[in-house]
Amino acid sequence: FHVDMDASATDKGPYPYYMLKEINEQPNIMRKLSQEYLDVDGKPTVDPKIISAMKKADRLYIVGAGTSYHAGLIGKALFEKLVHIPTEVHISSEFAYSDALLSQRPFFIFLSQSGETADSRVVLNNINKDYDSLTITNVENSTLSREATYTMLLNAGPEISVASTKAYTAQIALEAILAKALGEAVGQTTAQNFDVKRELSLAANGMQAVIDDKDRIDQISKKYFVHANRAFYIGRGEDYYVSLENALKLKEISYIQAEGFASGELKHGTIALIEKGTPVFALITQKKTAALTRSNLEETESRGSKGLTVVRKALAQPGDDFIIPDMSELLTPLVSVIPAQLLAYYTTLNKGYNVDRPRNLAKSVTVE
Ligand code: G6P
Repeated sequence: FHVDMDASATDKGPYPYYMLKEINEQPNIMRKLSQEYLDVDGKPTVDPKIISAMKKADRLYIVGAGTSYHAGLIGKALFEKLVHIPTEVHISSEFAYSDALLSQRPFFIFLSQSGETADSRVVLNNINKDYDSLTITNVENSTLSREATYTMLLNAGPEISVASTKAYTAQIALEAILAKALGEAVGQTTAQNFDVKRELSLAANGMQAVIDDKDRIDQISKKYFVHANRAFYIGRGEDYYVSLENALKLKEISYIQAEGFASGELKHGTIALIEKGTPVFALITQKKTAALTRSNLEETESRGSKGLTVVRKALAQPGDDFIIPDMSELLTPLVSVIPAQLLAYYTTLNKGYNVDRPRNLAKSVTVE
């Protein structure tokens, strides 16, 4: 297996749209990142200069826009659990003008598929004189990569569809590898015990199983989403972070108004929007909150919603819609995001819109 980096990388191949091609590339990208950034024993091979700069930090600041911001939210969980370092995640356009009070020794991580997003560049310009930074990007020699102190490349191959898919999962995988490396460097046993190589391999297999089930997702799309005028994605913790990304995918290409919600927050207002047939898609991969999210989903179902579930195997119950493998709860987002990527794809296709070229959007936004 390999991800083409030559001329054929920009070719749609047998796929009708780039988005479907890019969704399909994700399992191989997980394996490729594992080969590139881990040795045979699963030890990270991250540039030691990056680790020694990060070791000096008392707080991490992850900055990004759109889908990259959502990947940063998962990074917060990874760095806080594996490194035990407080981690803030910021929307770049907000952080740029927030007069933020920084910690004594901040370290900045910029997440950007394109490496060109103007909003993120403003933040980098603001901090560049005083602090070290790392850009995690898919584009070598991109502006954010040139201007930051350090760079790590996603090497996911060109992402052409405007709706980002493979960059999201590649960013999360690289954050996991980096968190493992830093956590080990500061002597955290949680990091030492975190078998990232095995987890990425489980994730690749889990992703493939969802992709192989795509005809069923097409049917679910036709039955519950194509005629819906709104949809909700819900979860708690990391499941909530993934629900934000899931909602963004659906709204940006199918034009259905979709929102990601912390499931416990629904009852404080949003549940008023539930009508007969409103799709509510619940992510249930975290043991601590599984029962709570289920009961929040049932509250919407008793008001007429059509509930759908993505559940980690150990937490599954009869009637669940998508079962993802048992793997570290820290990396379930790599798999739990896939059903909704495909759901957005098919809903857009079934509504007759151009999947790769949604109205009003650009792949790389170089204005503030
Ligand atoms: C644009 C794209 C989004 C992307 C965001 C950030 O709005 O349409 O898909 O998530 O920019 O892009 P970046 O290249 O910085 O990850």
